[in-house]
Amino acid sequence: MIERLLPPGAAWAEAFDDLADAPLLPGEEVIVANAVPTRRNEVATVRACARRALGGLGLPPVPILRGERGAPVWPAGVVGSMTHCAGYRAAVVARSAELRTVGIDAEPHAPLPEDVLEVIALPQEQARTAELSAEQPGVHWDRLLFSAKESVYKAWFPLTRRFLEFEEADITLAPDGTWTARLLVDGTTADGGELRGFNGRWLVQDDLLLTVIA
Ligand SMILES: CC(C)(COP(=O)(O)OP(=O)(O)OC[C@H]1O[C@@H](n2cnc3c(N)ncnc32)[C@H](O)[C@@H]1OP(=O)(O)O)[C@@H](O)C(=O)NCCC(=O)NCCS
Repeated sequence: MIERLLPPGAAWAEAFDDLADAPLLPGEEVIVANAVPTRRNEVATVRACARRALGGLGLPPVPILRGERGAPVWPAGVVGSMTHCAGYRAAVVARSAELRTVGIDAEPHAPLPEDVLEVIALPQEQARTAELSAEQPGVHWDRLLFSAKESVYKAWFPLTRRFLEFEEADITLAPDGTWTARLLVDGTTADGGELRGFNGRWLVQDDLLLTVIA
């Protein structure tokens, strides 16, 4: 499913259920030290996906540890992102020479809980969400906006090493399966580069929605 949103150079793997025998590699146990078994399987399965995706780049399986602020630690020269929600786990990786950054997020295709949109969305985003909902009521645009913001954070953080508040990116979703994020804060990256925003893609399939920056 996620491959429909990816450019050449990205390697991916996904699972719609937990793998019964997905192992945790050395160092990963600490991530699930206090987790119930279902959470443990979810974390192990998304890492199995990550290792399969790395294999797609010709790289060996390695532990995927949590680094600064929870960001996944990829092998040198690799960028990537992981997501897991009810009924879906996925990882996307690429050589950093091919893609600058990756951010992926999956969510159940259902409305956001009441009052959440007002918390996560700028006034103009709320207005556009209302318009899109009137035009195309079959898509839960509020949840899609939330997911796009999560993908922005996952693509932003490895480049800047800074937190990004929900109101610091202005996201425009388009019915054609694309979206853009305009950064409303200084986008200086850790290596002295500059970020102005991101281009993303989205899809809804079955009971899931996906947003991707790659
Ligand atoms: C980190 C965050 C984006 C994760 O999203 P989520 O929907 O809760 O969970 P998902 O399953 O989709 O993603 C979890 C994965 O995100 C990744 N992740 C966590 N922190 C991250 C970070 N700082 N940078 C990049 N990726 C990160 C990890 O790979 C994690 O997998 P793991 O838990 O197995 O280690 C979210 O919890 C969060 O903190 N959001 C606040 C920041 C934000 O969204 N700002 C909006 C900017 S417009």
